Amino acid sequence: MAIITWNDEFSVGIQLIDDQHKRLIEIINELHDAMGKGEGTKAQAHILAQLVDYTAAHFKEEEKLFDLYDYPEKFAHKAVHDKLTQQVIDFQKDYENGKTIISLVLMNFLKNWLMDHILNVDKRYTEFLNDKGVH
Ligand SMILES: [Fe+2]
Ligand SMILES: [Fe+2]
Repeated sequence: MAIITWNDEFSVGIQLIDDQHKRLIEIINELHDAMGKGEGTKAQAHILAQLVDYTAAHFKEEEKLFDLYDYPEKFAHKAVHDKLTQQVIDFQKDYENGKTIISLVLMNFLKNWLMDHILNVDKRYTEFLNDKGVH
């Protein structure tokens, strides 16, 4: 069962970014499924690696837009990305070292990690980028 369901309220008004956010939601849901089914460590580690890689690629893509249009909040936003990236990498390390497991607590953390960022930080660039013709 999905832990996050896409909802139009999550839209940042830019198709490419919305598609990437949907993919991030999909990966988190896959991890949730893998946890629910009690799939092995290898399968979970693989999904976790996808989450780390896709997150990095997605953040880069947003930051490219910030640089291209000189978004006034770009430095603050990049700092948040760096923190979020570190959090997921730290978790991945702990998971690989056997220090932690994929739990409901973690899944809720990841859910909030993504939702809070989209709703409270990403959505701040909608008006600015839309005004620049980015949709
Ligand atoms: Fe984003
Ligand atoms: Fe962002």
